Amino acid sequence: MRALPLTLLLASPLVHAGAHCDIALKAGDSMMYDQRSVGLDAACKVYTIHLTHTGTMSVGDMGHNVVIARTQDVSAIANDGMTATLADDFIKPGDARVIAHTKTIGGGEKADASFPADRLKPGDAYSFFCSVPGHAELMVGQIVVK
Ligand code: CO
Repeated sequence: MRALPLTLLLASPLVHAGAHCDIALKAGDSMMYDQRSVGLDAACKVYTIHLTHTGTMSVGDMGHNVVIARTQDVSAIANDGMTATLADDFIKPGDARVIAHTKTIGGGEKADASFPADRLKPGDAYSFFCSVPGHAELMVGQIVVK
């Protein structure tokens, strides 16, 4: 039996093994994430979004991002983002309703973003979505914190 690497044993001492502190999503050349729902552990201090664009289309043709917000704010953020630019990741500049978001990427690219776990309050409903104009209706899912 092989010993576990020490670094693995020391990682995140406050969070039990196997805690879900990451939101890992994939999207390709269609308006779809690979998941409709993601689970997060309430014991985490920081959550990290990992987006992988598995397609080949450019960011201008089929860009994707991941935005985290209260579920009740998703439509309004997406609508306001319609008039924002790619440089602003199709989010109205200074939109305080946005809890976190990745940059907008094209095929073959990856993007990460982290945010303090206490931004998600117990009892509120949260969602992830893509703010690229026209995508949010299909590219949306719920976040379940346990
Ligand atoms: Co998208």
